[in-house]
Amino acid sequence: MSTVYLNGDFLPKEEAFISPDDRGFLLGDGLYEVTPFYEGVPFGFDEHLARLVRGLRWMRIDFDTSGLEAMHRELLARNGLDTAERALVYLQITRGAAPRTHYFPEGDVTPTVYAYAKAWSRPSDERWNRGFTAATVPDRRWSRVDIKSICLLPNAIGFQDAKERGADDAILVRDGVAIEGAHQNFWAVFGGTAVTHPKTNHILPGITRDIVLDEARRAGVAVEERPIQLEELTLADEAFFTGTTGEVRPVVEIDGRPVGNGRVGDVTRRLSDLFLARVEATKATAVAGAAMTQAE
Ligand SMILES: Cc1ncc(COP(=O)(O)O)c(C=O)c1O
Repeated sequence: MSTVYLNGDFLPKEEAFISPDDRGFLLGDGLYEVTPFYEGVPFGFDEHLARLVRGLRWMRIDFDTSGLEAMHRELLARNGLDTAERALVYLQITRGAAPRTHYFPEGDVTPTVYAYAKAWSRPSDERWNRGFTAATVPDRRWSRVDIKSICLLPNAIGFQDAKERGADDAILVRDGVAIEGAHQNFWAVFGGTAVTHPKTNHILPGITRDIVLDEARRAGVAVEERPIQLEELTLADEAFFTGTTGEVRPVVEIDGRPVGNGRVGDVTRRLSDLFLARVEATKATAVAGAAMTQAE
């Protein structure tokens, strides 16, 4: 049975109830965050927290985030996931329950805070090596997708359209630009340079994207942050997505046409290896830190 967190309590999921007046339910007035843990070690926790805090400020939701890391750890432990190879905590914060108005409720309204933990897994090497397919769909989202709001209807419809066309994933296209995936950032490789959309209000600033950019720069892999025109995709040698649960995910076919030679490319493999090495290094640092604390 899964244990979830709701407004300060850990309780069985079956006993977790949220008011029908919750503004997340009625208006999509909330934010979410998904934070990965590898064998119980948080990966990019501060960056995920910083993105959440930025979103809360922008939405003018007053919420103290200082207890969140401890809550994440406890939720994992209570679900027996504190040593899982890969686990995540989904956290959602809404403005809270109040009579439905479009303007913010007057008086003190306590934000609703809900979280659950679950294990996830990387595709098998065989599956990863075959690569994934994607279909381009219109980006119908609003103009502040850099805020990780729970209003994901355009993402869901885009993903569904891609799925119905037989693709594994969607690439959202706005004004002729391949912006990002429905739940991942998008990259294309041209002549050895890995290109991804710059951080603007039109993409979700992915934590995985930042880590891959950082690792690439350290390793001397050429990267560029610029919009990728849809027309250019026919010239791309490789393509891939980055995201918390997708990690680095190769894309070998877009709209039924092979990307490059239709096989997972060297730059994608290199960046995936660098990403996985960063995960291993983070785990090793955490283990060494824990050993030092014990010795003191
Ligand atoms: C639209 C979109 N782009 C990109 C990402 C990847 O972000 P991250 O790497 O932080 O998981 C997400 C993750 O939810 C997303 O929803």
